[in-house]
Amino acid sequence: MEKSFLPPSVELNNISKNYGDVQALKGLTFKLEPGERCALLGPNGAGKTTTLKILVGLLSPNSGYVKIGGYAPQSQEARRMMGYLPDDASPYRSFSVRENMEYIGALRGVDNVSEKVDRLLDSLQLREYEKAKVGRLSRGNVQKLAMALAIIHDPSVLFLDEPLNYLDIPTQETVIDILKGLKATLLVSTHIMEVATRLTERVVMISHGSVVWTGTLGELKNLGKEGEPIERVVARMLTDVI
Ligand SMILES: Nc1ncnc2c1ncn2[C@@H]1O[C@H](COP(=O)(O)OP(=O)(O)OP(=O)(O)O)[C@@H](O)[C@H]1O
Ligand SMILES: [Mg+2]
Repeated sequence: MEKSFLPPSVELNNISKNYGDVQALKGLTFKLEPGERCALLGPNGAGKTTTLKILVGLLSPNSGYVKIGGYAPQSQEARRMMGYLPDDASPYRSFSVRENMEYIGALRGVDNVSEKVDRLLDSLQLREYEKAKVGRLSRGNVQKLAMALAIIHDPSVLFLDEPLNYLDIPTQETVIDILKGLKATLLVSTHIMEVATRLTERVVMISHGSVVWTGTLGELKNLGKEGEPIERVVARMLTDVI
């Protein structure tokens, strides 16, 4: 069904987050315009996963605020709009693949859940595992199921933490096609520059819990020398700030 409304904006304002003595985020501020697709880059431990968990309301910041289309992330309105793929996806292990999808689809209020599940099973090459218990799946197939659960309700804003981890090459291509087809505001954390270049227009680079650079992928490329791979440019920028 075609959505006529604009996807929501995403705003983080001066977010700080401590885990005990560890200051994971330090005054993080950035904004995604409605429908914007953005990659969240940064070295290990920079705060990407923490940022995504705060955006979806799983963690509360120590200070600052988040708005999803103007709503707090814990609100009903924001929850309805959001889809989230965590870095440590953990669907119900004692449910089958199909049961997980039907259960989450029903909770999400998806119309014609069964048909939607059928389409996702086929497009994500999960059909042969539909009756398999999640506890017996390979890691890649768990990741495919987690992706299905993140998008089953056609979210208008999507937060993805390393979405292509563990996926075989055909499924990576399928997932890229599915994500490109969604009319959603997108923030994707990744270490793979190809994910950023194929799925997004803009980059937010963070290090030690703060934004160190933001700009378009074109601007990022232009920071490099003629013919220099974009990975080299990013590596240099991140090494400078580590
Ligand atoms: N539950 C936790 N308890 C204590 N410290 C934590 C916890 N989760 C994260 N941290 C710390 O917070 C900081 C940010 O971690 P986070 O997982 O957000 O980084 P990341 O950018 O997602 O890293 P990666 O690229 O390795 O996934 C790190 O210093 C990490 O050790
Ligand atoms: Mg992470």
